[in-house]
Amino acid sequence: MTPALQLIGVEKRFGATAVLRGVDLEVRRGERHALIGPNGAGKSTLFSLIAGEQRANAGRIVLHGDDATRLTSAVLARRGLARSFQTTSVFERLPVHENLRCAVLASLRGGAGLSARWLGSARADARVAELLDALGLAHAAQREAAALSYAEQRALDLGLALAGGAHTLLLDEPTAGMNRAEAARAVDLIRATTAGKTVLLIEHDMDAVFGLADRVSVLVQGRVIATGTPEAIRTDAAVRDAYLGAHFDARFNAPGHMRRAP
Ligand SMILES: Nc1ncnc2c1ncn2[C@@H]1O[C@H](COP(=O)(O)OP(=O)(O)O)[C@@H](O)[C@H]1O
Ligand SMILES: [Mg+2]
Repeated sequence: MTPALQLIGVEKRFGATAVLRGVDLEVRRGERHALIGPNGAGKSTLFSLIAGEQRANAGRIVLHGDDATRLTSAVLARRGLARSFQTTSVFERLPVHENLRCAVLASLRGGAGLSARWLGSARADARVAELLDALGLAHAAQREAAALSYAEQRALDLGLALAGGAHTLLLDEPTAGMNRAEAARAVDLIRATTAGKTVLLIEHDMDAVFGLADRVSVLVQGRVIATGTPEAIRTDAAVRDAYLGAHFDARFNAPGHMRRAP
């Protein structure tokens, strides 16, 4: 089966600095694939290239078999690619359900006539109710987004990415800034809401990686140095050498030690 996403020799420079130096990566359809690597390795930059926010200097990006190297983020979104950001992107002054409704309506294209819009609106309401349920936010539907807890805001942010019915999701550090209990809930939520979808996520927390990822790729100094199951990556000598050394052991052997206290 054609992969969901293929990167072939992708390069990105900022001025004289080569940030991505020939990235090869394949994400299968329906898999959850974690991208790990030290700070500054180029993970977020890679996401911005895949999402069409920046252009690669060389290489190819293929989405579901079609060349996507030069597509804009708007076109990619219409083709089913959604990105959630490291910082939340909700409309703080709007109620939770309105946030989701905007995202759903934006994705319902087609007839612009009044009846079509009315039908679209009825469909949107049903979809919003479904999402509120799936996100565990039904109790907070009428609340301003700004009044949500941090973890709830991240759930809403995930909901905005899901609202358009995307088949491929890019999640940048979905558990960042959460305590262990919140992170565990976020992992459950991501697993439940992305069943059957393709997910590429950047994640530092190894509990979350093990809880979510079917496969892991390791990005070091702008190149993918290994791809495999979480267990294979954990025991890969080259990964240990090139990536984290003692820090790597600390992360894998002391789950959650990077987190703030609950
Ligand atoms: N727009 C930009 N202009 C110049 N340098 C950038 C830009 N975006 C990222 N970088 C640099 O690229 C490197 C990789 O950054 P980033 O992709 O954010 O890494 P990661 O997400 O793996 O921590 C860093 O050295 C960063 O300073
Ligand atoms: Mg980053």
